Amino acid sequence: GKKALAASASFNFSEISHGVDETHHVAPGYSAEVLIRWGDPVLPDAPAFDPMNQTAAAQATQFGYNNDYVGYIGLPFGSDNPERGLLCVNHEYTNEEVMFPGLGKQDGDAEFAGMTKDLVEVEMAAHGGSVLEIEKVDGAWRVVSGSQYARRITALETPMDLTGPAAGHDLMKTSTDANGTRVIGTINNCAGGITPWGTYLMAEENFHGYFWGDVEGHPQQAALERYGVPSAWYAWGRFHDRFDVSKEPNESNRFGWIVEVDPLDPTSTPKKRTALGRFKHEGGELIVNGDGRVVVYMGDDQRFDYLYKFVSAGTYNPDDRAANMDLLDEGTLYVARFDADGTVAWLPLVQGEGPLTAANGFPDQATVVINARLAADALGATPMDRPEDVEANPVTDKIYVMLTNNSRRTPEQVDAVNPRAENRFGQIVEISAANGDHSSTEDTWEMLVVCGDPADGEVGAMWNPATTENGWFASPDNCAVDNQGRLWITTDQGSGWSRSGTADGVWALETEGELRGTGKMFFRVPVGAEMCGPKFTPDDTTLFVAVQHPATDGTKAYPGFERNSTFEDPATRWPDFQEGVPPRPSVVTITKDDGGKIGV
Ligand code: FEO
Ligand code: CA
Ligand code: CA
Ligand code: CA
Repeated sequence: GKKALAASASFNFSEISHGVDETHHVAPGYSAEVLIRWGDPVLPDAPAFDPMNQTAAAQATQFGYNNDYVGYIGLPFGSDNPERGLLCVNHEYTNEEVMFPGLGKQDGDAEFAGMTKDLVEVEMAAHGGSVLEIEKVDGAWRVVSGSQYARRITALETPMDLTGPAAGHDLMKTSTDANGTRVIGTINNCAGGITPWGTYLMAEENFHGYFWGDVEGHPQQAALERYGVPSAWYAWGRFHDRFDVSKEPNESNRFGWIVEVDPLDPTSTPKKRTALGRFKHEGGELIVNGDGRVVVYMGDDQRFDYLYKFVSAGTYNPDDRAANMDLLDEGTLYVARFDADGTVAWLPLVQGEGPLTAANGFPDQATVVINARLAADALGATPMDRPEDVEANPVTDKIYVMLTNNSRRTPEQVDAVNPRAENRFGQIVEISAANGDHSSTEDTWEMLVVCGDPADGEVGAMWNPATTENGWFASPDNCAVDNQGRLWITTDQGSGWSRSGTADGVWALETEGELRGTGKMFFRVPVGAEMCGPKFTPDDTTLFVAVQHPATDGTKAYPGFERNSTFEDPATRWPDFQEGVPPRPSVVTITKDDGGKIGV
């Protein structure tokens, strides 16, 4: 009961309630302040945000759209300074209907009526990432203007190198890059990671959605189809031939990677690390193994796709930053098979081993990593309910796997780790690295929670009974392990959030002891947004969160918001609440009013 909760809970804050309205909410005794919004200046020459006169040139100097991953690196590097640092933020995608006046694009508008080359290029400049220097002054965070570190990375103009086994392979060559080693930009950067050597990993997720064209007769037709290329979610292919696979057959092979950026050097060239495989990368958080090798856990976010990990060949050197800069180019990629007896087998994606032979379409390691999904299919990996963020707990060596939902799983496809058909609410699986060794090829797994409303027997949820009517959540997406080894979850219910009766948000989740599996609601986003980013400062006194796409998701399905949002008539104008100013994705800082650690 409640008394036990008070006696042994890891989290000490007053829970907020499920619900939805036009703004955000945080637990009492905490402040949640907007740090930076879409369109705010990043580079020194950035013009003021003018939503009625948007240009690619302006957007390339301003904070991009749909902030997702948030990483923090204390400055100076190595100091763990909790009051001054670099914030590395992904800009995952764009929502034309609320970005641009007069467009009113609605579901199913495949013709992209109203999208011009200029608007497409604003979108391309609004993708990618931002590197900001931030500082806390008198208890409040602000962006340092004119910082030497300030950087915008875009889909429009940032050159990137391809490194690792696929660099230079024939499948990577295009009409503008005969060497197959250089790409312009990065797209659909969802979550990511920060390495101990102070680099920023950007995960390229739904890259297929940007490509146009016809795959019928394409030499790689089966592979492209396995990745959903082309899907034409955007108008880019109308104006940029490289986003049309009929015109540039290999360009889509150059996306779907983990990108590594050195944020300490704004002139550095980001690197697409092909050794980590090509799929719809949700994120890339890593842990240093006991033997010094680094291990990156990675979800492939699609229904029935897989969980992967990469184990570096070399070891991390804490005393020599430069020696670590190419650690992610050599190592072994594995995919997970979850067995009903509670074991996880990690199957190596190594050319020449098992079925990964030339006869089966894998003549070299480049082909294995480029078509990692096909290789994982051949190995018999377990098709999962959309693997999202995966994070290892450095205190316990447990690994938490967010499985967000999978409405298409049939009763015949149910298995131990994906236990529900038509899974609308998701589950969190916990893996224990065998003997704390993250390079192990045989681990064990347990279910941590099965999400959804525990009061509704039809849902089949599994929570600790100490969870209140506000403590349960649906569709876990991103997560953060704080510096005390406690787990925090953020959700993305997509357009189905009205099924839970609550907007997305941040929940604390107990993982150890009698209260294991107890959720507790900490923060809530405004209507139509999803909750991304969660990241703590090294002292746990600040939690950074990213409010993504306010106003857009499923608003018409909920009483009080019965319309699809447009620029002119959005469901909310968060955070400005000013007539004529559209809703703006923004990064928010959460601090405790007494300056203490979050949730303590
Ligand atoms: Fe971009 Fe898997 O969410
Ligand atoms: Ca995510
Ligand atoms: Ca997300
Ligand atoms: Ca998601």
